[in-house]
Parts: sequence; structure tokens; C-alpha cells
Amino acid sequence: MPIIIDGKSISAQILSELKVKGSQLEAQHGVRPGLAVLLVGDNPASETYVRNKIKACEEVGFHSVVERLSDFVGEENVLERIHNWNESKEIHGILVQLPLPKQIDEQKILLAISPCKDVDGFHPENIGRLLLGMPGFLPCTPAGIMEILKRTKIQVSGKHVVIVGRSNIVGKPLANLLYQKTEEANAVVTICHTGATNLKHYTQQADVLIVAVGAPHLILADDVKPGSVVIDVGTNRVPDPTSKTGFKLVGDVDFEGVKNKTYAITPVPGGVGPMTIAMLMQNTYLSAEGKVFNKY
Ligand code: GUN
Repeated sequence: MPIIIDGKSISAQILSELKVKGSQLEAQHGVRPGLAVLLVGDNPASETYVRNKIKACEEVGFHSVVERLSDFVGEENVLERIHNWNESKEIHGILVQLPLPKQIDEQKILLAISPCKDVDGFHPENIGRLLLGMPGFLPCTPAGIMEILKRTKIQVSGKHVVIVGRSNIVGKPLANLLYQKTEEANAVVTICHTGATNLKHYTQQADVLIVAVGAPHLILADDVKPGSVVIDVGTNRVPDPTSKTGFKLVGDVDFEGVKNKTYAITPVPGGVGPMTIAMLMQNTYLSAEGKVFNKY
């Protein structure tokens, strides 16, 4: 029987640890961790993500603010909010929910967030720090995957990890985390993308297969190596007339078809998703604690 990795319960454990640490920080230093979230437009998936992030703040006792701006807002209004939060003593983490409307230059917005409040880990300074193995904020989904591997005692050192997807948010930073010369990493990493004409050729060689492309059920049983670990980052909304919402969430991996071939696998929902939020709370706590950028 495969191990079904319960991201929801690992996340709950991390959140309860952070609740204790957060209240200690407040009691001892008078600092309550605070997160500011900016949501532009009315993308339903973004609405859900933001709601879940705020709910997590409430759960761990962190301060949170949400600013909603219309789809037609100008870049300067977004920049003004970020500048205010950069200066605020109550805000330790700033998150701009992506995607942004077309008239707004995403890179310009992400660059405006102070790297020491960049709890999403998207600022080029934090990406550079990650690449060099320096302290900094790690992007939440890759950090969540590293935490899953650590807490389920799946060692990747010397193993072949194949990542499908080269996004700035998941694939690229995750590859860089996994090949670092550290005890919990040290993997041999292959990244697959649209340039891979025979995807199966690579995925079948993976001791650990991580899929993050946003293509429902891209990976089928025949694509995975027997006894491997499969981590599914996909969160795809597909129509489901039997559901109240009219849709259901499915991963990039055909979970039912693949699971019995694996040693361990993450489900969707309830796998990587909850870990992303736990890591956002962890980054917000670490920012409030103020030690991340101490050394350099
Ligand atoms: N959109 C999809 N995932 C993310 C995320 O992790 N952070 C932000 N800011 N936007 C997203």
C-alpha cells in the first residue's frame, strides 16, 4: 500500500507550532507577526487563495490586512500600497496575489516589495539568495515540498528528482533547493518543460517525480517508475456537475491510476496546497522575528 502523504495534517502541525512561537514572540518582545495581502481584480481562484491565507493568519493569531483593488487599477496605486506596507511597523510580510491584470507590470510590483518583507520569496534578491545557499525567504510551495520530504523522512540525497514544469514560482526555485549541497537536499535534478518531446522518457527514470504544470492528469501510471515518490503540485479546476460549486480540484497526476505504483504520493486536494499556506505563515513569523537577514 502506498503512503498517502497528508499535507493537511503536516500543515496543521506546523501551524500549531507557529501559534506557540508567535505568542512567545509577542509576550517576550511585543511583536505580533503581521501579513498584508493585496488582491487585484476578482479572479475566483485568487479569492479562494487569499481567503485561505487570511484564515490561516487567524488560526495562528497573526495580524492580517487585505486590500482589494479593482481590475482597472493603475500601477501607481499598487506601488503606493506596497510602499506604505514597506514602512509599516505592524506589517512583516507583504503578499501580492498573482496573476495581476495585464496593465500592471508584475516584475515591477514584485521588485517594489522590500526583500526583508517578501514572504512569498519572489523578489530577485531572495531568488538569488536561494541559488547561492544564503539565508533569505524561500518561495512557499518549494519550501512546503522540502518540508513534506523532511517530515515524512523521504531522503533525496543521491536520488534522481525529475521536476516537470519550469515556473518561477515552483519549478526553477525547487530545482535549486533540491541540488544544494546540504544534508536534506543533494539530489540529482532534471527539469522537464515543453522542450521535452518525450516526457515519459524522463519521468520513468524519476526516484522522486514532482509535477507542477497545471495540466489535469498529465501523468498516468505508465509515466512513473515503480516504487517512486510522486509529488503533485497541480491544482486544476475541472467541471463537476455533481458538486455544489460546479467544479472539482484535480492534480497534474492521475492519482487513482498512479498511486498503487508508488512508494508515496501526495493527493490533490490535501497534499502540497496546505503546505504552501503553512510556509507563508512560517515566513511571516521568521520576518517578525527579524533574524533571516541578520548575517548578510
Ligand atoms: N498565485 C498562485 N500562487 C501564488 C503564490 O504562491 N503567491 C502569490 N502571491 N500569488 C500566487
